Amino acid sequence: MGTLKPQDARRIEALIGRMTLTEKLGQLTMMAASHTVTGPVIAGHSTDDIRSGRIGNLLNLIGAAAAREMQRVAVEESRLGVPLLIALDVIHGHRTLFPPPLAEVSLFDPEAWRMTAREAAKEAAADGIAMTFAPMLDISRDPRWGRIIEGPGESAWVGRLLAEAKVRGFQGTDLAAADSIAAVAKHFCGYGAVTAGREYASVDISERALLEVHLPPFAAAVSAGVAAIMPAFTDLAGIPMTAHAAMLRQRLRRELGFEGVLVSDYNAIAELIQHGVAADLIEAAALALEAGVDIDMVSGAYLQGLPAALERGLVRISDIDESVSRVLALKMRLGLFEDPYRRGAALESAATLAERRRLARDIGARSLVLLTNREDALPLAESIRCLALIGPLADAPAEMRGPWWSAAEPDTQVSVLAGVCEALPETQVLHARGVDIDGEDGSGMATALELCDRAEAVVLCLGEAATMSGEAASRAHPALPGRQRELAEAVLERAGARAIPVIAALFCGRPLIVPWLVSQASALIAAWFPGCEAGRALADILTGRRSPSGRTPVTWPRAVGQIPLYFGQRSGGRPADPANRYSSRYIDESNEPLFAFGHGLTYGRFSLANVRVRPESATETSTVEISVDVENHGGRRAEETVFLFTRRLKSRVAPPLLELHGVGKITLDAGARGTLILHLPARELRSLGPDLAPALEPGELEILVGPSADRSSLLSTRLTLLGQPPRRS
Ligand code: NOJ
Repeated sequence: MGTLKPQDARRIEALIGRMTLTEKLGQLTMMAASHTVTGPVIAGHSTDDIRSGRIGNLLNLIGAAAAREMQRVAVEESRLGVPLLIALDVIHGHRTLFPPPLAEVSLFDPEAWRMTAREAAKEAAADGIAMTFAPMLDISRDPRWGRIIEGPGESAWVGRLLAEAKVRGFQGTDLAAADSIAAVAKHFCGYGAVTAGREYASVDISERALLEVHLPPFAAAVSAGVAAIMPAFTDLAGIPMTAHAAMLRQRLRRELGFEGVLVSDYNAIAELIQHGVAADLIEAAALALEAGVDIDMVSGAYLQGLPAALERGLVRISDIDESVSRVLALKMRLGLFEDPYRRGAALESAATLAERRRLARDIGARSLVLLTNREDALPLAESIRCLALIGPLADAPAEMRGPWWSAAEPDTQVSVLAGVCEALPETQVLHARGVDIDGEDGSGMATALELCDRAEAVVLCLGEAATMSGEAASRAHPALPGRQRELAEAVLERAGARAIPVIAALFCGRPLIVPWLVSQASALIAAWFPGCEAGRALADILTGRRSPSGRTPVTWPRAVGQIPLYFGQRSGGRPADPANRYSSRYIDESNEPLFAFGHGLTYGRFSLANVRVRPESATETSTVEISVDVENHGGRRAEETVFLFTRRLKSRVAPPLLELHGVGKITLDAGARGTLILHLPARELRSLGPDLAPALEPGELEILVGPSADRSSLLSTRLTLLGQPPRRS
């Protein structure tokens, strides 16, 4: 967070000294302006509450003029003139939408992640926003959970990189700058492990899982200087995170050293009553404050409950003052006291906006994951003169936005139909919706099938509506909704009769369970939601203007019953053996995923050879260099992504089958060779012992390098880890 200048600290103290209790609680309250709705609407607040100091912070306000007016009321008409903190969920862009986080993670490129956050911050700040509720850092291994799309996926290592990149992107180098906004790392902690993938359900994970998997991304966000953190809606082994003093005060503040603001999730303080740990708003407010939550988002519990909690002796005024001082310190760091209107003043030029859309197209194309490509069905042959686009997502610009759209208008999104028509002006592009995304109407099916008789190739655009993932969108059946499977099977059959290729693009906020499609489509693309330039981004890949390069950041299961399925599982004492009934496997399904973590094809054809590690033994202070030769045997220039995994051969704690420690990329022309070098600081290889303390355990380590977490695709070598170097006396 950075410490305050002494004069700022004095100013805050003086300000608090002049505040009434109501004004203090106003600083600890954030209310919704309802320009957009991100939770149950809780009515009953007015501009008068800002004037009277009862509301010190706002969310869901959109537009520079509105932000400026509310700010003016706070600064010019309230007694103490404390500026408002105006926040919004700017998750994957504000007016210009980039792909949502999980899709963007497919790039495995932290600099790209930083850049999109930077651009989103500029746009949001130009609209008067000073804080975003992002990045979401919940590690999730459960595609039933709708919010898997909002985060880093299954790997804690990726989560750490994402945390750092996004915090740097949103906050810039100077939080006070007119184009910087405060980041809020969320949702602390373990929300991605909700029981059975069901939204808002209980979380009950081991201390080891917490430390190994769920905490590291938050630790990385704290190290990167994140301004604020949001506790999760959920409980952790029975203690709601909003009231979890041990996690918030002890672990987050004392152990991780977090000095910033804790902002509750939407209505979460009042929901402590529903959790069953508070009898009323008074107790709920006291519990949250005691746990260290500074800002109450929309529940009104602090305003209504803390005065009585004070009287009853449930909280101390010093705790309230401490929270107020943290909120004021953040406002100061954001430069709001210096100039409350500095955000919302910039008018971005047309050239800037065009450049940002170019970035969105680039990132959108790079987020697409080519899952299968039989007989090089892609890129489409240049000779194709008639192409059919079939499916409910082919002409669905609004859906391309994905789960959060901030201030992005639906008509500024490029549909697949528009993008493909633009990219192939000489080609006749036929289009039929066929069926709706969801529902039973099959009246468009016949028209869609007729197109298969005229076209030379079909692109099937299938998947989920944007609102089928994100918050409150858990699915017990994470497959194609409605009658889409029926449509797809009919198209595959009709097109199959003429032996024309059927390319399927899946627009989705999670891995979809579609083994039947994988085995039948000529090619399959995980398109996620590609953002505002969706159609152009997809067309760039379909036409071969660019080679695909995205890699799936989550394992794709082949059956719901396999969930959770992820590369970091432990072996167990009876690892799967098809010949042995008494081994860890299903009797009715394979253990193998549909697609392994990291899987993704390109238009090149890469082989890896000769993996080396230098030096071959390391102590905690060493950095190891791992190199591998890469060759592109294919006919096209392409970018290959190489993952660096490790596996401890023997350890006091049963080691995961694979641990991710690095990713490298190399672009090679057709027929070219190169060498990829990755650096691995040995301290990264520390693991948590039986006592949960981190240490570098001496012993043999397998180094595994390859294009995905599929064990059969990995090259392997060894590294010896030595104990601590002897201390010099
Ligand atoms: C609830 C969500 O859990 C959180 O992620 C979001 O930031 C808030 N609503 C505010 O919209």
